Amino acid sequence: MKVVLYSTQTTNGIIARENGDEDFLSDESWLIFSKLVEDVGCFIVGRKTYDSVQKWEDYNFDNINATKIIISTDKKLKLKEGYFLANSPEGALLKASSLGFAEVIVAGGGTINSAFMSKNLVKEIILNVEPFIMGEGIKVFAKEKFEFKLKLENIKKLKSGIIQLKYLVIK
Ligand SMILES: NC(=O)c1ccc[n+]([C@@H]2O[C@H](COP(=O)([O-])OP(=O)(O)OC[C@H]3O[C@@H](n4cnc5c(N)ncnc54)[C@H](OP(=O)(O)O)[C@@H]3O)[C@@H](O)[C@H]2O)c1
Repeated sequence: MKVVLYSTQTTNGIIARENGDEDFLSDESWLIFSKLVEDVGCFIVGRKTYDSVQKWEDYNFDNINATKIIISTDKKLKLKEGYFLANSPEGALLKASSLGFAEVIVAGGGTINSAFMSKNLVKEIILNVEPFIMGEGIKVFAKEKFEFKLKLENIKKLKSGIIQLKYLVIK
């Protein structure tokens, strides 16, 4: 399974305010996220990200035409129709594989990103760096013990001023 970790962050690595808001991110970042996951066909997020995005007015995972897998430790968690539950990163990959996918996008939040990194499950990382800094908030990687050398594969400058960085994870 090819696992691509995808995230949009401030220049200093913040992906959301402490209260979960992502109002400082550009509309373009949502549009490119939606297009990527629809092209790949499947994405995985943590339960807190699922909860957080449910509250947004402008954008919603419901309207994205892709398979959505939510990770939670709660085996009885009730999800909306169209969402699949997994209880671990490995469980989410097994689910994606059983549904016929050979590639998935892991799309946060910071806890799930670190869970996949620390288990050495990620092959590629795409980071969108917004022209914005903020002194507090949820980080792209929650505190966990892992380190990898990366190989820079591509750099793109997008309309909104986002710099999109694509890396291969050196195992
Ligand atoms: N800017 C971006 O690109 C971006 C992308 C995604 C998310 N976000 C933001 O990030 C914030 C959420 O990030 P977060 O780090 O607080 O939470 P998160 O990673 O979205 O979700 C954490 C939850 O995932 C489950 N989980 C984590 N590791 C697990 C494991 N190894 N096995 C089973 N379940 C596991 C747990 O759910 P249970 O508690 O139910 O067990 C945990 O509470 C939201 O505000 C969201 O909007 C931003």
